[in-house]
Amino acid sequence: MDLNNSTESEHSALQEFCKKLPKIELHAHLTGSITRECLHRIWMQKKEAANQEGLLYDLEDPIVVIPSGKVDYDLVTCFPLFSNYIYRLCNDVATITYSTNAVLQDFDDDGVVYLELRTTPREFKETGLTKAQYIEAVLNSINDYNTSSSTMKTYLILSIDRRDTPEKAQESINLATRYQGWGVVGVDLCGDPLKGDIASFRPHFAQARAAGLKITLHFGEVAKTSAEEDLRLLLSFKPDRLSHVIHIPESIREELRKRNVALELCISCNVHAKMLIGDYGDHHFGMWFLEQQCPVVLCTDDVGVFCSPLSNEYALVAEHFQLTPKQLYDLSYSGIKTIFAGKGEKDRLESIFRAWKQEEGAKLI
Ligand code: IMP
Ligand code: ZN
Repeated sequence: MDLNNSTESEHSALQEFCKKLPKIELHAHLTGSITRECLHRIWMQKKEAANQEGLLYDLEDPIVVIPSGKVDYDLVTCFPLFSNYIYRLCNDVATITYSTNAVLQDFDDDGVVYLELRTTPREFKETGLTKAQYIEAVLNSINDYNTSSSTMKTYLILSIDRRDTPEKAQESINLATRYQGWGVVGVDLCGDPLKGDIASFRPHFAQARAAGLKITLHFGEVAKTSAEEDLRLLLSFKPDRLSHVIHIPESIREELRKRNVALELCISCNVHAKMLIGDYGDHHFGMWFLEQQCPVVLCTDDVGVFCSPLSNEYALVAEHFQLTPKQLYDLSYSGIKTIFAGKGEKDRLESIFRAWKQEEGAKLI
């Protein structure tokens, strides 16, 4: 679709199409996917409970901390939002269950049929919640949702934060293997790209792979830590997928083509966080999509922070890279081969896409 010639009605028809299109979301951080409205509801409830006990609840209202419409978070302001605020609000089984359910519902309402949610195992000293209890609360919500009548099925990826010590990373791998039969399908490396000693995580990812877990890594987010040797070190972890892939020297790009590694691309996040120079139309999605060398999957990253649901990411590429509805369908469909769940799930998705194509085929021009 040509943005310059698009009318308002064409724009809303495109939004509607993208919402109805069955979609696969593979890169969504649980905490970053909670809307500010959901955080506000949790805050209200906690404040009222504290007041009833005659206590003061000193955490500020999310609506004030994360004002409505604000999306210009960057790599400096984004991480403290999680550690200084959201983790203090969602810190017990009730709030984790409530927020996870809300996140699942939001993705479902947006037409996502397969979701891989990721989260960093965390303990909460103030409530006594252990990492295992945290992961169990998230998995319980996921499994309840998966057994409901919803079409969407969700799996979990556990993240190692770049700032983690080797001991903490080991705890995450232990949890990932322990809960593998319960819906954990992979492990991730995330967190502030300017921090941490990535070399120390090599044995942990090797252990995960040996246990049959898949691997995805945040990759080339900032130029400062994307020297060829840093990226080669990450590639030595044998990732199945990589995310962002922004600051990539040509030699590494060639390596990615050779490996045919799947790329999780997060357009709004990269633009709002100024991780690349330019605007939507300058995003490297254009290059990778046109090249058709590595599989490309559109993802949201932190929809609660950047406020662009997956359907909007599809609409953005349609508008800025002139993709037709047929190309949008093919882009979404091609994600099936990159999911971390097994053959049963791939077959289920194949039939969902086939049925949708039969029904809506006339629109796929
Ligand atoms: P959680 O793991 O569910 O708590 O989701 C929030 C966490 O995801 C943050 O504390 C970061 O470590 C990580 N995260 C969210 N967005 C990004 C990103 O753009 N790059 C790297 N890490 C991120
Ligand atoms: Zn991410």
